[in-house]
Amino acid sequence: MIGTYPQTRLRRSRAAAWSRALHRETMMTPADLIWPLFVTEGRGVEEPIGTLPGVSRWSLDGIVARAKEAVALGIPCIALFPNTPAGLRSEKGEEALNPDNLICAAIRAVRDACGSDIGVMADVALDPYTSHGQDGLLGADGQVANDATVEMLAAQALVQAEAGAHIIAPSDMMDGRVGAIRTALEGAGHAHVQIMSYAAKYASAFYGPFRDAVGSRGLLKGDKRSYQMDPANAEEALREVALDLAEGADSVMVKPALAYLDIIWRVKERFQVPVFAYQVSGEYALIEAGAAAGVGDRDALLMEKLIAFKRAGCSGVLTYHAPVAARLLAG
Ligand code: PBG
Repeated sequence: MIGTYPQTRLRRSRAAAWSRALHRETMMTPADLIWPLFVTEGRGVEEPIGTLPGVSRWSLDGIVARAKEAVALGIPCIALFPNTPAGLRSEKGEEALNPDNLICAAIRAVRDACGSDIGVMADVALDPYTSHGQDGLLGADGQVANDATVEMLAAQALVQAEAGAHIIAPSDMMDGRVGAIRTALEGAGHAHVQIMSYAAKYASAFYGPFRDAVGSRGLLKGDKRSYQMDPANAEEALREVALDLAEGADSVMVKPALAYLDIIWRVKERFQVPVFAYQVSGEYALIEAGAAAGVGDRDALLMEKLIAFKRAGCSGVLTYHAPVAARLLAG
């Protein structure tokens, strides 16, 4: 301990706004935000998502408008997720490899409109494309089959890179997928396409509204606990991160965010690499519901959570609150 009362009074530096600003240890700017967006078919379509108040699916024109809005707000990156039409979902999720699928069309539309004024991140996993809602292919035993899935994910990543994605973000939690994707990208001339791996992704109860947004909630039978992590584990998260880094991940993600601040902190301390947190759909929805129920001021609630992720060691945060937060930060 440095100093004792009354020589030392920590309230001195807290007394005025100018002094609090001077002593602030953690900064947040719009450049710390990644905005996840949901894509749907059609033109001029906006579909509000009931369990995610304030968030909609947009058709391509709306996605392009949101990307331009992000550029204007100083948000450096968007993350795209498709709501694949029901008729295109199948047991093996082949639509994931269609170079003209919804996600590739959205990537191309944003790249055509914005060039590299904004980063475009694409999610690699099969759940928006499978008729069973699992992130991979089912084996004879009904479990998600690792190696066959990895082959497909590498092909999916290539299709997205070819459409113009800057960052490939595998969210499936198969073993060995980062290495397979890196090899596929290098082999096809995409040496500069980044991989942000969902390295420590937990089998969480907070993903519900997202599954509504991509239309997989009603399809999913069972759970994802044979590939997503047990919320009780931390050492295992460090092994996941170590493997993904060794396989060529440029940055790693911890997901969900608020209940896993210790994981963010430990990953940053151990590896000193760029770490991102995904404040997931259920976390977003709880803030909105809490504010609506009178728990507190919505803007204050959401900004307090975002600064906590940065304080824990994050380089940035994926959040559906990105445009709201960017506006608040701009004053
Ligand atoms: C699936 C995927 C999920 C999310 C991102 N990618 C859900 C899941 O694993 O079931 C969750 C995001 C959120 O809840 O906001 N590959």
